[in-house]
Amino acid sequence: MPTARCATSIRHAGTNYQSISKLHGNVHGGNLLKLLNQLAYTYASRYSGKYVVTLSVDQVIFKVPIHADELVIFYASVNHVGRTSMEVGIRVEVQDIQHRSACHTNSCHFSMIAVDKNGKPTVIPPLNIDSEEQARRFQEGVIRKEARLKAAKTKHKPYI
Ligand SMILES: CC(C)(COP(=O)(O)OP(=O)(O)OC[C@H]1O[C@@H](n2cnc3c(N)ncnc32)[C@H](O)[C@@H]1OP(=O)(O)O)[C@@H](O)C(=O)NCCC(=O)NCCS
Repeated sequence: MPTARCATSIRHAGTNYQSISKLHGNVHGGNLLKLLNQLAYTYASRYSGKYVVTLSVDQVIFKVPIHADELVIFYASVNHVGRTSMEVGIRVEVQDIQHRSACHTNSCHFSMIAVDKNGKPTVIPPLNIDSEEQARRFQEGVIRKEARLKAAKTKHKPYI
């Protein structure tokens, strides 16, 4: 199981999600997305020391429902840092406290951009890579960023 190891990799746990649940007591997907975005904002702004905005989020897949009274653990990591952009990866696990078992419910990657007071991208500190795991995450972040940029080029062709 991943643990909070360094300044760019943090764990956040919570339970009692009744206020964001819907019928049948399961957490509403949209509310979970909002929470994930808030976490991505927190970690990106904490890392960069700047105001940040969300550029994109990829691949949110709800594999299993989360019940409102389950213990939910979020593992967040600043995987990749560019000149002005950061990729924050968040893994969500639900833990059964009594049986000490964990279930991976979903993972996603947020692209966050540091901006100045005019809303323009602003330079952030480079990521210090001090472990093989960080190096792997960084490299995977490079590949995902390239894929996003490539997809953006093909998707946003001007109409005419
Ligand atoms: C995010 C925003 C500031 C980026 O502005 P921009 O002029 O496109 O910025 P740039 O082209 O200079 O790119 C900034 C960074 O984003 C990256 N980027 C831009 N488009 C990208 C895409 N489609 N995929 C991945 N990365 C992308 C660039 O590579 C660059 O990263 P780097 O500096 O680390 O190399 C602007 O698009 C914006 O204001 N968007 C609205 C944000 C918002 O309102 N979010 C919701 C509420 S928070």
